[in-house]
Amino acid sequence: MKILITGGCGFVGSNLAILFKQHYTSSEVYCLDNLSRKGSEINLQKILSYGCFFVHGDVRIKTDFERLTKVDLIIDAAAEPSVLAGKNTGELENLIDTNFNGTINTLYYAKKCSAEIIFLSTSRVYPYDSLAKVNITSTLKRFHLSQNQEIIGISEKGISENYPLNGFRSLYGATKLSSEYFIQEFSENFGIPAIINRCGVLSGPNQMGKIDQGVIVLWMAKHFWKGNLGYIGFGGLGQQVRDVLHVRDLFNLIQLQIKNLSLKKGEIYNVGGGIKNSISLAELTESCSQITGNKINISSISENRQGDLPIYITNNTLINDIYGWKPEISIDQLLHDIYNWIKKDQLFLKSILS
Ligand SMILES: NC(=O)c1ccc[n+]([C@@H]2O[C@H](COP(=O)([O-])OP(=O)(O)OC[C@H]3O[C@@H](n4cnc5c(N)ncnc54)[C@H](O)[C@@H]3O)[C@@H](O)[C@H]2O)c1
Repeated sequence: MKILITGGCGFVGSNLAILFKQHYTSSEVYCLDNLSRKGSEINLQKILSYGCFFVHGDVRIKTDFERLTKVDLIIDAAAEPSVLAGKNTGELENLIDTNFNGTINTLYYAKKCSAEIIFLSTSRVYPYDSLAKVNITSTLKRFHLSQNQEIIGISEKGISENYPLNGFRSLYGATKLSSEYFIQEFSENFGIPAIINRCGVLSGPNQMGKIDQGVIVLWMAKHFWKGNLGYIGFGGLGQQVRDVLHVRDLFNLIQLQIKNLSLKKGEIYNVGGGIKNSISLAELTESCSQITGNKINISSISENRQGDLPIYITNNTLINDIYGWKPEISIDQLLHDIYNWIKKDQLFLKSILS
């Protein structure tokens, strides 16, 4: 099997690349990346050490794909993944070119190779204005989804695929949703097998967490190096909740998905840690303090940031029904994996994460 992973030196891409090499030793894994994410050069050394091939290229440039060998499977993991991206001067073009045009170029390449494709989409395709108004209750350290909800596609189990798409979703979310539509059209019109995984928060080692993306790693790193953090929005108490999926659980799912990928035509699945693997910022602080042994200063800003959500939980019912898959790795294990990685690689990571 020859696999192309775009964004193969990023957090998700590098983890998947290494796991593919470990589980399918005779596979050839090609990681295309322009190394624009700070820290991707560290992941590059890791993927090379596992025998993956690196192609220094840019998904925005169609001709960069011409340097690649013919592949059987493409994992589209190249992106500007920040939900805040695109608002500042100069960022918008890069966001649209990378996240949307980059996917189109990837699709042309999939068509040329007759390759199958798995697209890493995002829960951010669901509009924030309606999600911000879902019924919630609160306890001291977290928000909870109420049992009674007025919108279809949401229950106390979380958000499912039929959650209505009308509304604003961020520039980032819009680039990913636009990509989804084109993947489905390429699939239908040109017979390219495709699956779209709408992922909630993903985390694990190799994630170069920063203030606008990769919050779990950011939180652990700030505790590790005794930095400063803030609870922003929703009263400033850190009650906001996300479900978190370990990247190794994502790989387990992808292993199941590639078995019958040839039958798929752009089916969409919500994929996340689910209610069991959900955590609030206040709870995350507690866990990070316990694991690192450090207590740090956390400031508080009560006003909400535009587009921020009090709670997002993935309803994994469909993906569980179709593939029998569910997350196996607990949040606690995930946090320990992140801690051990930071501790081991701290010399290289300090300038990026601290
Ligand atoms: N991390 C999450 O929580 C999460 C959640 C949902 C969906 N996703 C999706 O998963 C995918 C991977 O995200 P990630 O967290 O690994 O992000 P990441 O920033 O760690 O990795 C993205 C990689 O793409 C590379 N890249 C950026 N622009 C490029 C370009 N023009 N050409 C080639 N390479 C380019 C970067 O250098 C980086 O190595 C993205 O599509 C993202 O939208 C991530």
